[in-house]
Parts: sequence; C-alpha cells; structure tokens
Amino acid sequence: MKKGFLATLMISAGIIACQPAPQAAKEEHKNTFSKATTQKTSKKSSKEKEFLKALGAQDKWQKACSNPVQVAPEGVDVTKFIEEMKATIKYPADGKLVGDWKKGESLALLPKEYKALYGRKGGSKKGNCYACHCGDPRIIACGNIGPSLRGYGKKGIDPKMTYDRIYNPWAQVPCSTMFRFGYHGLLSPEEIADIVAYLHDPESPINK
Ligand code: HEC
Repeated sequence: MKKGFLATLMISAGIIACQPAPQAAKEEHKNTFSKATTQKTSKKSSKEKEFLKALGAQDKWQKACSNPVQVAPEGVDVTKFIEEMKATIKYPADGKLVGDWKKGESLALLPKEYKALYGRKGGSKKGNCYACHCGDPRIIACGNIGPSLRGYGKKGIDPKMTYDRIYNPWAQVPCSTMFRFGYHGLLSPEEIADIVAYLHDPESPINK
C-alpha cells in the first residue's frame, strides 16, 4: 500500500516536471544552462590539459621521439629541440640547486628500499631511480637501463648539469628514456635540488 502510494507520487511528480514551461522561462533556462556548460568545459579543458601533460601525453617533441628504431629526434632540428627543452627548466625560488641529501635519498628510494636499509618508514614512489640505476652499493636489486650512479659526486660534474639532467633529461639527451621529472611535475624544483645533493654530497651513500 505504502509502496503504491510512493510510486503514484513519483509518477505525478514526473508528469508535473515534464509539463512544458512557458517559452520565456524556457529560453532563460537554456541560456543559463549553456553559459554554465561553456564555463565548465573551458575550466575542464585546462585541467584536462594539465592531466594529459602529467600523463606524458604526446607533444611535438615526444612525437619526434616516437620512432622505435631511431636514435635522434625525427623531423625536428636537434639544436632547436635541446634549446626548447632547456627553456622548460625551472629552478628553486631560492636559487639553491644543491639541497639536503638525506631528503634526496628519501625521494630517490622506494619505501621498501628505504625500509630495507634503515628499518623505518621513508622513501617515496616519486623518484624510483633504482628501477633504472644502481648507486648505493647496499641496494643490489637495482636497474641497468641507465648507467650506475656509484661515485657520481666524485666525477667533478657541475651540479647544475645534474639538476638540468633530472629536471628534463631531453635538454641533454634528446629522446632519453629517463623520466622528465621536473617537466612533468613528478618532482618539484626543491625536490630535484635534494636529489642533486644525494648525488653530489660526499656524505651520501652514493659517494661513500
Ligand atoms: C626509466 C629509467 C630511468 C629512471 C627511472 C631514472 N633514470 Fe636516470 N638515466 C636513465 C638513462 C637511460 C640514462 C642514460 C642517458 C640517457 O638516456 O639519459 C640516465 C642517466 C642519468 C644520469 C647521468 C649519468 C651520467 O653518468 O652522466 C643521472 C645523473 C641520472 N640518470 C639520475 C637519475 C636519478 C637521480 C633518478 C631518480 C630520480 C633517475 N635517474 C631515474 C634512465 C632512468
């Protein structure tokens, strides 16, 4: 009985809602609606753009790097490619390119790697450097897609080169498979400076 009553109520509400509205009100409604949707769409599209960029959606440089057998970008001038990649690099507001190596270590190591070394919580999924590199000799399950970073700080490399290399590897090696950490917003400028310290500081396990 109660159910039947509710159903009747809903059907009549539906019928009332479906009654044609007076023309003026209808137009007004249409206008507000389309305004709202346009605003919503333009907002969404800029968000969508950010999202696609974060995903690494194909831009013109990526397109130039998409031929699986090539070693250099295709169809673009390499000097210009490097110039444009360099122009994307942003530096920390305080201008310090070498931060805190301990923070850098925690960004470079996965939580499980950090826990295995120090027996406590730490690490992050942001850097994942050991997926492709070796470096700290205590981490033996490490990658060999990139060169070993062992003793990197003793090579006399300019920390700015290291910073740029992590922010946007394509500014030095076009089409590198290394993530463009800063360019894609995976790491902030300050975080990159901490990782630079992790690679350069004599006290870092990379150089011990
Ligand atoms: C997907 C694999 C990958 C990941 C992840 C990766 N790299 Fe690399 N890296 C490479 C490759 C490949 C190279 C060799 C040159 C090139 O193609 O860029 C390289 C080169 C480098 C170099 C230059 C080494 C040299 O001797 O000149 C540094 C420094 C470096 N990576 C640091 C890092 C750090 C720090 C991280 C983590 C934040 C990291 N990489 C994450 C693949 C990776």
